[in-house]
Amino acid sequence: MTDAHTTGPFIAAIDQGTTSSRCIVFDRDGRIVAVEQKEHEQIFPKPGWVEHDATEIWENVQYVVAGAIEKAGITAADVKAIGITNQRETTLLWDKATGEPVHNAIVWQDTRTDALCKELGRNVGQDRFRRETGLPLASYFAGPKIRWMLDNVEGLRERAERGEILFGTMDSWVIWNLTGGTDGGVHVTDVTNASRTMLMNLRGLEWDPKILSSMQIPAEVLPKIRSSAEVYGTAKGGALDGVPVASALGDQQAALFGQTCFSEGEAKSTYGTGTFMLMNTGHEPVNSYNGLLTTVGYRIGTEKPVYALEGSIAVTGSLVQWMRDQMGLIKSAAEIETLASSVDDNGGAYFVPAFSGLFAPYWRADARGVIAGLTRYVTKAHIARAVLEATAWQTREITDAMTKDSGVELTSLKVDGGMTSNNLLMQTLSDFLDAPVVRPMVAETTCLGAAYAAGLAVGFWPDTAALRANWRRAAEWTPRMDAATRDREYKNWLKAVERTMGWIEDEE
Ligand SMILES: Nc1ncnc2c1ncn2[C@@H]1O[C@H](COP(=O)(O)OP(=O)(O)OP(=O)(O)O)[C@@H](O)[C@H]1O
Ligand SMILES: [Mg+2]
Repeated sequence: MTDAHTTGPFIAAIDQGTTSSRCIVFDRDGRIVAVEQKEHEQIFPKPGWVEHDATEIWENVQYVVAGAIEKAGITAADVKAIGITNQRETTLLWDKATGEPVHNAIVWQDTRTDALCKELGRNVGQDRFRRETGLPLASYFAGPKIRWMLDNVEGLRERAERGEILFGTMDSWVIWNLTGGTDGGVHVTDVTNASRTMLMNLRGLEWDPKILSSMQIPAEVLPKIRSSAEVYGTAKGGALDGVPVASALGDQQAALFGQTCFSEGEAKSTYGTGTFMLMNTGHEPVNSYNGLLTTVGYRIGTEKPVYALEGSIAVTGSLVQWMRDQMGLIKSAAEIETLASSVDDNGGAYFVPAFSGLFAPYWRADARGVIAGLTRYVTKAHIARAVLEATAWQTREITDAMTKDSGVELTSLKVDGGMTSNNLLMQTLSDFLDAPVVRPMVAETTCLGAAYAAGLAVGFWPDTAALRANWRRAAEWTPRMDAATRDREYKNWLKAVERTMGWIEDEE
């Protein structure tokens, strides 16, 4: 697959995502040389519960790494560094001596810790740890998931306290295994992933002993917190034996990096399983008063950390998957566009996919999905349209909050991710935001960001300016909707959102 123009050396990026694991080999211009990808099983043991088999995930990672290297027609000697990016917050505990997970990984969308989060809020409520961590108490984050496992897996707390158990998000799990596992694997995480545990102090970038004790999590299980771009260790065995492992970033922060949003006020929105908009806010964390998260954007080596404001939407691409797999209304994700394009509008229907409650800007665990405005007129094509509009309206709610918190008006939005191949969605997004939407040439910004950070760490690229020079626009959509229509539709959307709330009552 190597084309005539591409010569080494290369950087390999591993993206351990929610639905699949990917490995992409990049050249010095940030162009894709080879890709391998493999999906893993989504395990739904009960309503609201979502798990992954971490052993399967590690096998898939090895498979995609070997596949990408083979497709590129290169060897480990051609690869200067490995970058890691990952689905965030998904939580795993494993046995240090055997490398065996003690339980399936609990995925970020899982809501089993709702009651625990309420209890942890005590009399203070959702914002009990917001000042330290930038996050509201919600089932989304890793800390309460660790606590759930310690409370629910027999004998686990004792083993953890004896130092026999390691915790990690998927970055830690992949790095530990890559660097040798039970044979000297390094147990680390980066600042961006650590900032999603609810256990790290945002300013000091260290585990917060007070929060650990409130959540009853023994410090023995925790990895070392490192920068996003630095050499953590060397790959041992496998297709990349001997190559330095030189970056880790949560997938959304990696996309921010891959979109080269290196200046304050620059933002991107990534459309995958969920949708996540991040805005670079510079070297100071900015508090949100409008339902956004404060998070670490990235930290290069020993430089000052860069912070971000984030709007997280739990369900966007996964709603399209749901239409395909659970409803059977389409056969492929791309078909949603064909179906939605067969009608001119939503026919009065609005679909609020509050499947895991509502994330930003509401943070309501008690919400559940609603299709509102149904009449006999509505067809599956209208529902398909409402599905796409749901992604665009949810983005609009986030950009409104972002403008209020940051004081920065949105002049255009950089987008990426699998859903951006949907033209109707991108046009709708531009219409609803009343702003241009631009997509770069390399829409795989998550892997690209991890590659960039790893390349910076080993001197493959000299600085962020060299990376900016690689960013190229591939497509742009501009608004075509009149203001009156937009305002009316937005009002209807907000009415539908109201109807999702309070569905789950306490005793349930
Ligand atoms: N043409 C399309 N129209 C609408 N949605 C689409 C289209 N193509 C893909 N999707 C959706 O985009 C998602 C896949 O995007 P992407 O590959 O960026 O996600 P991902 O990175 O694999 O997710 P994750 O990292 O969470 O595993 C799926 O949820 C899929 O339903
Ligand atoms: Mg992804």
